[in-house]
Amino acid sequence: MTDKVTASAPGKLILFGEHAVVYGHPCIVTAVDQRLFVTVERNGKDTFHLSAPDLGLTAYSKTTNDLGGSGLPKAVRFIEVFYKRFLEKYPQERGIDVVTKSEFSDSFGFGSSSAATVAFAKALVELYEIDLTDKELFDFCYGAVLEVQGVGSGFDVAAAIYGGTIYYVTPGKVIETIYEEELPIEVGYTGIKADTPTLVRQVAELKRKKPRTVRGIFDQIDKVTKEAKRKLMEENFAEVGKLMVENQNLLNELGISSVELDRLNKVSMEAGALGAKLSGAGGGDCMIAVVDGKKNEVVKAMKKNGEWLDVIIGAEGVRVETDE
Ligand code: MEV
Repeated sequence: MTDKVTASAPGKLILFGEHAVVYGHPCIVTAVDQRLFVTVERNGKDTFHLSAPDLGLTAYSKTTNDLGGSGLPKAVRFIEVFYKRFLEKYPQERGIDVVTKSEFSDSFGFGSSSAATVAFAKALVELYEIDLTDKELFDFCYGAVLEVQGVGSGFDVAAAIYGGTIYYVTPGKVIETIYEEELPIEVGYTGIKADTPTLVRQVAELKRKKPRTVRGIFDQIDKVTKEAKRKLMEENFAEVGKLMVENQNLLNELGISSVELDRLNKVSMEAGALGAKLSGAGGGDCMIAVVDGKKNEVVKAMKKNGEWLDVIIGAEGVRVETDE
C-alpha cells in the first residue's frame, strides 16, 4: 500500500482569448515551468492536517467530518474544498497530512490556486489508487475551483493538467494540445497584483450595460484566437505577434488594460518584439511578447520598465514525483 505521494503541477499563462473564454469563446493557454508541489501522506487519524509555508501557513488541522464551511484561510481553501468533495465521492476511514511547496510567487497570476488543486488531486488519486482519465480529473478539479471562486472558465485547471500549449473551450468542452515545444515568448511583470474575479465582474457589468458592443468584441477575439491557433501550429510567429497586438487592442476596448501593461507592451515592441499583449484578467499581473532574434533587447526593456520573469513556456502538465 502506498503511504505517501508527491505530485506537482505547472503554472499557466493565457496567450489569447482572455475574458471572451468566460462566455464560451476559445482561448489559448500555455503551462509555465514553475511548479507547485503537494505531498499527501496517510496519518492514521481522523484529521486533515495542512502545512503550506510558502503561502504563509504552517499548521492547520481539522477533523475530516468538519471540512469546508465559510471563512477558510485563502491558502487552504482550494485544497480543503477538493478534499471534502473527494471524501464524499470516495469515503476513507482515516485522514491525511498535506504539505505544499511552491516554486512561484502567488502574485504573478500564474494560477497557484488551480495548480495546487490539480497537484493535490493527482497526489490523492495516486495515494488511493483511483483510476481517472485526464478529463475526469479536470472535471473533478474544476468543480472544486468553481465552488471556491464562483467564477472562472477553467482554462488554468486544464493547463495545470495537460501542460504544453492548449486550445480550450469552457467548461472543458474542447481541450486540444496545439503545440508541445517551448515557445519564443518572454514574460514581463507589472509588479501589480490583479484581482481576477473583480475584473471578470467588471467585464460582466460592461456587457450588461452595452451587450451588443461587448458581444461584437468577443466575436472578434474569437476570430483572432482561432487564427492564432492556426499560426501557432504553423510556427508562424510573425503572424502570432500581429494577432497579439490585435487581441490587445480588443482588450483595450473592454477597458481592462493598465498604464503599466501598456508601457511594457510599448517598450517591448520598440525593442523589436513581433507582438505583445497583456496576459490574464488585466489590471496588472503579466504581459507577454513574441520575440524572434531580439530577445536580449526585449528582456532589457522589460527589466527597465517592470520585471522580466525568466520562465519557460510550454511546460509539462501534472505529474507524480514520488510514490512511497
Ligand atoms: C484570467 O486569467 C482569465 C479570464 O479569462 C478569467 C477566466 O477565464 O477564468 C479573465
